[in-house]
Amino acid sequence: MIRTNNISFSYKEYGRNEDLAPEDLELVLAAREVALNAYAPYSKFRVGAAIRLNSGIIVKGANVENAAFPSGICAERNALSTSVSNYPDDFPVSVAIAAMNEDGITEDPVPPCGNCRQVLAEEESRTGKTIRILLSGKNSTAVIDSISSLLPLQFNKKNLKADLP
Ligand code: THU
Repeated sequence: MIRTNNISFSYKEYGRNEDLAPEDLELVLAAREVALNAYAPYSKFRVGAAIRLNSGIIVKGANVENAAFPSGICAERNALSTSVSNYPDDFPVSVAIAAMNEDGITEDPVPPCGNCRQVLAEEESRTGKTIRILLSGKNSTAVIDSISSLLPLQFNKKNLKADLP
């Protein structure tokens, strides 16, 4: 049997950041703020991620690069490692991502890289809760209800339970 499957998802795009819910705007501003702390001498691309935990606490991370390029780490994974390490009983409800290049805050909303999608997906699976993703640009923000939408057909712990030969 041959079947064609279709995967699609809907998300909201806010053409003006001011139209975001106040707590989402606060998260976007927190992501921008922490992006200023990035250590990005090689790419000159500074990224900030701000995670709102269920308790209301906001945890932030920026990208930290390294002369050995693969040793650098993205903002999203820094923020998530901080939240899991320090608030193991809490869980993320939303994460906002913002970035700036040498001209300032990027016009276009910045999507998370593949590694960060995988790590955020693991967090959804660990906590059993979806994480809202706010991709923010200078004026606009895209709001996606779950990281799963950005990582369809994801590899996760269920795959590890596959029968061995
Ligand atoms: N970067 C992030 O921090 N998050 C992403 O999702 C995409 C890329 C960082 C990694 C590197 O320091 C710089 O942006 C350029 O790729």
